[in-house]
Amino acid sequence: MPFTPQRAFQAKPRIFTSAQGMYYRTQDGREVLDSIAGLWCVNAGHAQPAIVKAIQAQAERLDFVSSFSMSHPPAFELASRLAALAPGPLNHVFFSNSGSEAVDTALKIARGYHRARGEGGRTRFISRAKAYHGMGWGGLSVSGLARHRRDFGPFLPEVAHLSLPYDPKVSAFSQGLPDSGAHFVDELVALLATTHDPSTIAAVIVEPVTGSGGVYPPPKGYLERLRAVCDQHGILLIFDEVITGFGRVGAPFAAQAFNVTPDIMTCAKGMTNGAVPMGATIVSDTVYDAFMTKPADQIELPHGYTYSAHPLACAAALATLDVYREQALFERVGKMAGVWAKAAHKLRGARHVVDIRTIGLLAGIDLSPRPGAAGARGTEVNQACFDQGVLVRTAGDTFMLSPPFLISEEEIDRLFSTLAAILDKTA
Ligand SMILES: Cc1ncc(COP(=O)(O)O)c(C=O)c1O
Repeated sequence: MPFTPQRAFQAKPRIFTSAQGMYYRTQDGREVLDSIAGLWCVNAGHAQPAIVKAIQAQAERLDFVSSFSMSHPPAFELASRLAALAPGPLNHVFFSNSGSEAVDTALKIARGYHRARGEGGRTRFISRAKAYHGMGWGGLSVSGLARHRRDFGPFLPEVAHLSLPYDPKVSAFSQGLPDSGAHFVDELVALLATTHDPSTIAAVIVEPVTGSGGVYPPPKGYLERLRAVCDQHGILLIFDEVITGFGRVGAPFAAQAFNVTPDIMTCAKGMTNGAVPMGATIVSDTVYDAFMTKPADQIELPHGYTYSAHPLACAAALATLDVYREQALFERVGKMAGVWAKAAHKLRGARHVVDIRTIGLLAGIDLSPRPGAAGARGTEVNQACFDQGVLVRTAGDTFMLSPPFLISEEEIDRLFSTLAAILDKTA
């Protein structure tokens, strides 16, 4: 099982047998409020009828066709719909099966782009502390989480990491974008001036909102400055929108919410509402055009997966995009974000809580660790929430909450009051 203490699971298995809207049902018949949208992916809530029907119909019509030198109409329809949803120049889509594959694809495209333009010396990637970019070797190489990397190196050698742009002394308990922190881009400027010549850098990759690392929204002005420094030096900017894509911060992508356009964007998760695995890497016209200068009988991008643009995934994604639009779910995030932030920040002052960060329908809540037993308090509170019918997510002593966009005011209230009551009783 992925990222699971196997023996702890065997001792206390969590088995779900069905799900509907905001709720899972467990094998022992309990209803559990899903405050993490499955795993940041079931944005429209579970078992949306239109998505279920679309998958069923597609399975009957065309179960599979390879995307190697052939395709099927929904693949192109979906690519067009995604291009229309993405910021202006991001018009070209490459399909994969997960966020990890979307990230590895993005990194390969970045290097291939420079090589196609005669700048093959640009091989280095710059990432950040606390970054999560999936579990492929590329994504793990640019990961900023020591506990994920510790046992598996060496990784791609050409990666430099910047700090997380967050200073808890100044920005703790932030709502939305922290006021302070754009100056963290100075680190990149210094790196380019002293350590790594800009002509060796392929791309800077960031999650617009650091997700699995603990939910850290970008400081005001930070992404704009990052964009400017990349432009100045011919470095590509990659936004990993695997969590922030499809409405999580109130716009189709964080790029639009924060008004900064990357050259390459990755997405997955909410793309099919979690119903069928799928990822995508969306690139700008400029990036795409660089590959089109090769002789016409050559494969422009020698890369791909058996299940790229899988018919069931395309059908699920097209239906998901309809659901988002018809139920105005991205707009709903905008409307609920204030209620969400208010309820989350009521935990300020609760026992053990040392920081809370909110944006859109995301929250990161840090507890102080027990001396000598980091993570134990988080695990205990997580279990107590589950026992009381609320599914939350923790990494160590940090809670990361990301509910389906259908969540009601009452459910928000239930989630945070359950947490508050449990914290109060937890040593
Ligand atoms: C920002 C980001 N990138 C990539 C991934 C990897 O996605 P997957 O687990 O679908 O491979 C994740 C997963 O949580 C993610 O949050």
